Amino acid sequence: MRLALERCSIRPWRLDDAESLAKHANNRKIWLAVRDAFPHPYTIHDAHEFLHRAITEQPEMKFCIEIEGAAVGGIGVHPGQDVYRHTATVGYWLGEEFWGRGITTDVVAAVTDFCFDNFRFRRISAEVFANNHASARVLEKAGFTFEARLKNHVLKDEELLDSLLYARTK
Ligand SMILES: CC(C)(COP(=O)(O)OP(=O)(O)OC[C@H]1O[C@@H](n2cnc3c(N)ncnc32)[C@H](O)[C@@H]1OP(=O)(O)O)[C@@H](O)C(=O)NCCC(=O)NCCS
Repeated sequence: MRLALERCSIRPWRLDDAESLAKHANNRKIWLAVRDAFPHPYTIHDAHEFLHRAITEQPEMKFCIEIEGAAVGGIGVHPGQDVYRHTATVGYWLGEEFWGRGITTDVVAAVTDFCFDNFRFRRISAEVFANNHASARVLEKAGFTFEARLKNHVLKDEELLDSLLYARTK
């Protein structure tokens, strides 16, 4: 899979992305907006570990955001199981130097379209910590609908937060 967008491309991760991945992912502002499974500090060892996992996963559902040949962000699609097997959740991040240019909005919209076109999914959702206005805006611009505020759903950096549930359906 390779999607060529106006300002970036989306493609599968490669083992030689490790250095660029560690450089862009090693950012406390990113860590504050994602799950604790995303390491901080983000070392080259963490990058190698992630890349080995991403590359061996079948089907590959974790993709790299590439700008000018460098891996500068990621987007992952996580299929549901059992009675949720027609659903998926999506998570994403982008290196800080590229924020505010509409890049992630394009990426989320394109990957969602790709998943609806190529997999059995009828629902793709994303959950945003309630203090992450930029990410909520990304989802709205990418055609997701706000469904619910989940009270006290997240404990991040010792702070109890609500989360916001967004979804696109087919
Ligand atoms: C959230 C994130 C993905 C946004 O990426 P991006 O490429 O900068 O997003 P875009 O440029 O496509 O859109 C950002 C939108 O948020 C808006 N925005 C940014 N900061 C904002 C704030 N503090 N309050 C309200 N809106 C804000 C921007 O103005 C823009 O909306 P607009 O086009 O209506 O002006 C990026 O900041 C990031 O990686 N953050 C850390 C990780 C993260 O939050 N991941 C998502 C977890 S759910």
